[in-house]
Amino acid sequence: MEIPSASLMPENDPSTLFNTAGMQPLAPFLMGEKHPAGKRLVDAQKCVRTGDIDEVGNQWHLTFFEMLGNWSLGDYFKKEAIEMSFEFLTSKKWLGIPVEKLAVSVFAGDEDAPFDDEAFNIWKGLGIREERIYKYPKKENWWEPASAIGPCGPDTEMFYITDKPACGADCQPSCACGKYLEIWNDVFMEYNKTSDEKFEQLSQKNVDTGMGLERVTAALNGYSDNYATDLFKPIIEKIEELSGEKYSSDIDITRSMRIIADHLRAATF
Ligand code: GLY
Repeated sequence: MEIPSASLMPENDPSTLFNTAGMQPLAPFLMGEKHPAGKRLVDAQKCVRTGDIDEVGNQWHLTFFEMLGNWSLGDYFKKEAIEMSFEFLTSKKWLGIPVEKLAVSVFAGDEDAPFDDEAFNIWKGLGIREERIYKYPKKENWWEPASAIGPCGPDTEMFYITDKPACGADCQPSCACGKYLEIWNDVFMEYNKTSDEKFEQLSQKNVDTGMGLERVTAALNGYSDNYATDLFKPIIEKIEELSGEKYSSDIDITRSMRIIADHLRAATF
């Protein structure tokens, strides 16, 4: 069932000023409360993230974005979620991205939760070559709410391999040079992080996925940044008109116009 985006302003949730993720308005349902629309949901949630605001102005970082998500509230879990992700990304019926343009990462494991060998093997079985399946620690492959307490778990992340040259021999998704663009993640929410930093099993196993509309639009159009898409181009053109400056004339002007375009969208929403 498709549900509408919640407001950008969280309701009954003092933990953040704005909704930062698709999971935030759904947190009570990830904790076990019954959702009136059922156990399998999809949405496009408006989000504002400011944790990496200093990166805004580069090709990919935004404050405001729309997060496409599919949700299992105690229904399907890892196998079905990864298979559906693979099908949606690669099938000609959906996004039709060639398998060769994809890399993925899985949780490497630590003292709180084990290596996600199940996710690793599912990707391998679907045809992702082993050297394209990266294993990363919590910093990269774990998802929890901005408040750092509540439903959380390991995730698997999906990267579109852009045509940008590799930044070195060890270029990989975690190096953030821009060659590997994270377009989607599937979070396997099976833990509740308590205020004393303990990880308890949730009463139900959930899936939370997040695909940035702006990034996937850019990737599907073969662009190397968000700002070349229809979502930003008319805004940039208006800024050029009002300022009398050319967007691509100088790196500082490009960066400044991207920041203005991003902040205008965020302020508008
Ligand atoms: N699905 C987690 C997130 O990126 O918001």
